[in-house]
Amino acid sequence: MRRRGLVALTLAIVVVIWRQQLASIRVIRWLDQRSGIDGPSGARIYDALLAPLANWLYERVAADVATTLGERVAPTIVDVGTGPGLLLIAIAALCPTATIIGIDPAEPMRAAAGRRLARAHVTHQISVIAGAAEHLPLPDSSVDLVVSSLASHHWSEPATAIRELLRVLRPGSCALVYDLRFVGFTDRELDALAMLAGVERAAITRRTLRGGLLRLFAQVTLTAPGVPVGDRQHPHRTPSRRT
Ligand SMILES: C[S@@+](CC[C@H](N)C(=O)[O-])C[C@H]1O[C@@H](n2cnc3c(N)ncnc32)[C@H](O)[C@@H]1O
Repeated sequence: MRRRGLVALTLAIVVVIWRQQLASIRVIRWLDQRSGIDGPSGARIYDALLAPLANWLYERVAADVATTLGERVAPTIVDVGTGPGLLLIAIAALCPTATIIGIDPAEPMRAAAGRRLARAHVTHQISVIAGAAEHLPLPDSSVDLVVSSLASHHWSEPATAIRELLRVLRPGSCALVYDLRFVGFTDRELDALAMLAGVERAAITRRTLRGGLLRLFAQVTLTAPGVPVGDRQHPHRTPSRRT
């Protein structure tokens, strides 16, 4: 009798997850936001055990960051919700001329990142500061690329965060936001968030990563309006081509 009850409960959970994906995603997010991961002991466990397990993901994200930046010289890169900073170090290895800033609202996470950066001798290139996706302590149009991994499901005001990420980006630059598929933003949510944030829907794309365990993750790309400085046509060259 008890076993039948358990089977029924499991089936019910599967049906809820299958049929009402968004509702179940929100429950998982709600639980995770209250898991205490950003408190002192949560940060210690995440720093020592969980984050190192995801090094293969950080290497992939860092490669995407380097590819997206291409030839841009001495770019400024910001990691929003940086946690204990493993992604910062992976990016520094591939982008040696970049200035890299990690931002996180949780002091225990920033402290863990500070210790890791000091051990890796990269504090000349990377700094970690307090802030949240909804309030970035950075000037308008000052960043060449924003990246975020496994943190977007913690954003308490996603529409504000989207506006804020776009505010700090230079024209034509983009934010690469990675999260687990079963907690990250769905396409339907992004429709609503684009409207709320007052952003063109075409400026936001979402795709599932490919290959092995990467399929568990989705990447959302936000593109700031405008043309990157390096791609603008020289004002004196344009008229001569029109003859
Ligand atoms: C699961 S950890 C991910 C850390 C790191 N990015 C990684 O990939 O290992 C989530 C991080 O998001 C941070 N966070 C929570 N709320 C946030 C917000 N509103 N804006 C930015 N980061 C936030 C937490 O403090 C935590 O460090």
